[in-house]
Amino acid sequence: AVLLGLLPACAPRVIDHEQVSKNEKIVIRFSHVVGEDTPKGQAARMFAKLMKERTNGKVEVQVFSNSSLYKDSEETDALQQNRIQIIAPATPKLSSLVPELAAFDLPYLYSDLDRYHQVLDGPVGQQIAASLYQQNMVELAYWDGGMKQFTNSVRPIRTPEDLAGMTMRIMPSAVLDQQFKLLQVTPVEINFNDLYSALTKKQVDGQENSISNIYSKRFFQVQKYLTLSDHGLLGYVVVMNRDFWNSLDPETRRTISLVMQEVTDWERQQAVQFEQNNLKAMSNCQCIEIDRLSQAEKDRWKEFYQPLYQTMEQKLGTHFFRQLNPQP
Ligand code: LMR
Repeated sequence: AVLLGLLPACAPRVIDHEQVSKNEKIVIRFSHVVGEDTPKGQAARMFAKLMKERTNGKVEVQVFSNSSLYKDSEETDALQQNRIQIIAPATPKLSSLVPELAAFDLPYLYSDLDRYHQVLDGPVGQQIAASLYQQNMVELAYWDGGMKQFTNSVRPIRTPEDLAGMTMRIMPSAVLDQQFKLLQVTPVEINFNDLYSALTKKQVDGQENSISNIYSKRFFQVQKYLTLSDHGLLGYVVVMNRDFWNSLDPETRRTISLVMQEVTDWERQQAVQFEQNNLKAMSNCQCIEIDRLSQAEKDRWKEFYQPLYQTMEQKLGTHFFRQLNPQP
């Protein structure tokens, strides 16, 4: 009726979303909580650059880094309400909405990222994507943050017993909460952009994070000890508001998917480079004591965490858990 011009002028305008997005500029707000000079920060900028180039300026991606628009605790709601269209939170931060994501918080689940990537690209990743879709989110990619390490200001950490009695900042996650309580540590949830101040004021003794976050947020300046434990992985899930995604024309969706794949391959390589370069810089500045755990010491930590594995297998089910293929 609209095309034939049969509708009276006063009829409400029937918006054809696909037609609208074909002709008009599309603005995508990408909000995240880390610094620009990090794997995620650089990847967000690269995504914005390539989207502008590949759509001849039709799609404009506005990047808001460093929690400049929304903090950790606010960004998921903002995305679900389409106030922003893309976020890339660490997987623990969506685990209350998608319980399967908590599995990736298990310490020493993977000793190499290739296995983790394989699992994400298989049935486990598809199941998580389906759960995210129910929460008004479309999974666009999984990015790497690097392996997690401990920092603290009390004592050098080499064994599980060394952490006893401390307070440690955690991201919101039942597994991370238990990971520390098993060690007689008091876990404290703090937004990432409030963490530097909390460490400075000694509101917590320490925290766990990737090397690039420890370096880019200058945690090494307000902590005394860095333990290279590689005790877990900091993984990101890049998600777009589902209704916004469905409002786009197929060509724009295809371009977003292709560009995101290209950026993901690049981001994963950057995560390795950032980890090496930032660790070298912290070693050279001699501004924090660095203790590297041996494989035997790591094996002892993993043995200590076995109760967590049993709890998660019961919670997520043996079939799902076996698809994670934890290290033997
Ligand atoms: C943290 O909260 O420590 C990290 O998830 C921040 C980030 O997104 O890397």
